[in-house]
Amino acid sequence: MADSSDISPVSSARRIALKAGLKLGALAGGAGLVGAGQVSAAATPDPLITEVQDWNRYLGDGVDANPYGKPSVHESDAVRRTVSWLTADNKSSINFTPLHKLDGIITPNGLCFERHHGGVADIAPGDHRLMINGLVETPLVFTMEDLERFPRESHVYFLECAANSGMEWRGAQLNGCQFTHGMVHNVMYTGVKLKHLLAEAGVSPRGKWLLPEGADPSHMTRSIPIDKAMDDCMVVFRMNGEALRPEQGYPLRLVVPGWEGNMWVKWLRRLEIGDQPWHHREETSKYTDLLADGTARRFTWTMDVKSIITNPSPQSPIRHGRGRTVLTGLAWSGHGTVKRVDVSIDGGRNWSTARLDGPTLAKSLHRFYYEFDWDGSELFLQSRAIDEQRQVQPTKDALRAERGVNSIYHNNGIQTWHIRPDGSAENVEVS
Ligand code: MTE
Ligand code: CO
Repeated sequence: MADSSDISPVSSARRIALKAGLKLGALAGGAGLVGAGQVSAAATPDPLITEVQDWNRYLGDGVDANPYGKPSVHESDAVRRTVSWLTADNKSSINFTPLHKLDGIITPNGLCFERHHGGVADIAPGDHRLMINGLVETPLVFTMEDLERFPRESHVYFLECAANSGMEWRGAQLNGCQFTHGMVHNVMYTGVKLKHLLAEAGVSPRGKWLLPEGADPSHMTRSIPIDKAMDDCMVVFRMNGEALRPEQGYPLRLVVPGWEGNMWVKWLRRLEIGDQPWHHREETSKYTDLLADGTARRFTWTMDVKSIITNPSPQSPIRHGRGRTVLTGLAWSGHGTVKRVDVSIDGGRNWSTARLDGPTLAKSLHRFYYEFDWDGSELFLQSRAIDEQRQVQPTKDALRAERGVNSIYHNNGIQTWHIRPDGSAENVEVS
């Protein structure tokens, strides 16, 4: 099983100049359902149909085999993967969601990427406390049981690490959307709006900033403006219906919808109210974007509009040959909903509108599809999302013109996959 593969960069940062007369024959008319091309096989004798198979013959497992269900053994490739050279050790570690193995908008709990600065804390819920202190009328301490007595809400939100796609600033690097875009997951959280807890403590009029702190050895902290805290932030104890996973901050995490993942403090143990942002010395909490002139962008909290084609992609090549082909991907924006996704198969020269499918929720992943007839010629696939504020996902070149290449964070540039006639795919850039 390819678990923690050592992914090497693509063959020397790939940049391809598009030929002037790139054939457009691959495109068979818009986003409508493609009629042409038979996808089923003619009915000829097939032992898989005519012969009795083992799974028809022998009794299978009963209900006691798996008290907690697991995926099929045939799905062992759908796993989180890390890149060994990205982090120094397994405590300050990162792995990636296998986006190319998923469909719809929800990320299964066991496949949510992980980012830890001090490893996974193991906390018994009975031993966990959440303290609110600082500029409040009454400092408070909550047990988990206390928190469950507040009104609960459930919301689906994406969490994207600000460093997602960060390896791609200087050129095409990693060969697979799991690696280029897999620091994102999308979960239905259940918990309590932070404003209810803060109301209980009584925030002083001087209280303008919130400092959440984690109980893990990294003691993660971030400064969050009080307006955001009072708006849609939540403290949550459930993900996709069940208890938070240890990797995601069990038993309690902060949810900061639409804002960079670093602020979503896991193993949340304390909320301090202050009148100004804290000075974060630790490398874990600085999160500024270094520009070409040596100055830095600060307070870049919202994750801007972005999209990625998940299939086909380097880890999910076209295996069926020419003919009817389903392209799919994900789009999201920290500013709200995604209004439209365009797809190009010729490196951004021509665009067609993709079909958005499933729930269209603010600050959540959206799923798009584009069905087309592939004529077997090479393709340069791109997707471009537009959000409800009419912000348009930029090209990587436009991003670099604005911010240089020193950044790690907030790379929402348009991704290109080069599809070769044999159906294989590679991470490239085109000009
Ligand atoms: N919270 C604590 N306590 N410790 C951490 O190391 N990492 C942060 C954030 N919250 C972190 C944390 C970062 S950088 C990110 S991107 C997200 O958690 C990752 O959340 P996940 O592991 O659920 O994907
Ligand atoms: Co992060």
